[in-house]
Amino acid sequence: MINKIGTYACRFIALVLLLLAGCQKEMPEETKRESPKKDYIRKIEGKNEPIPDETVSRGEVLVAYSGCADCHRVDTKAKGPAFRDIAERYPVQPAYVDMLARKVITGGFGSWGNPIMSPHPNLSLNDAQTMVYYILSLDQP
Ligand code: HEC
Repeated sequence: MINKIGTYACRFIALVLLLLAGCQKEMPEETKRESPKKDYIRKIEGKNEPIPDETVSRGEVLVAYSGCADCHRVDTKAKGPAFRDIAERYPVQPAYVDMLARKVITGGFGSWGNPIMSPHPNLSLNDAQTMVYYILSLDQP
């Protein structure tokens, strides 16, 4: 009789342990749910330098007239990444602005898991930088 109770107790404990193991397995799933966006943005830490309002508004107009909207939206992913996601990834610093402006001019791929960005060889480096400043301003308060 005592043996039998022992067996039941063992089974009960085994069951509880199994349930606990099951719960623990689900914990990482919860954290995983948030990370796709984080993995996609891959934020680069760094200080943001202030952007003059005038540069932002000039950049916005240039973007509007340069066909960027064929592939980009401010808030949602289209053929290209959302401008706000780009803003979230890069700190506002001249080195990043320069790198991104050159990429807009030459086109490229590989940073966002999207298809290719076509080249825009007719843009001046200065205009491309102004547009990038506007894009990077989109996550600033
Ligand atoms: C033909 C579609 C297309 C057009 C037009 C286009 N883009 Fe893009 N853009 C993309 C794609 C696709 C990517 C992602 C490339 C990658 O994954 O590296 C991208 C990425 C970017 C990035 C981020 C680059 C990086 O390395 O993080 C910037 C900034 C950008 N575009 C700005 C612009 C601007 C400004 C214009 C207008 C002059 C423009 N794009 C026009 C498709 C386009």
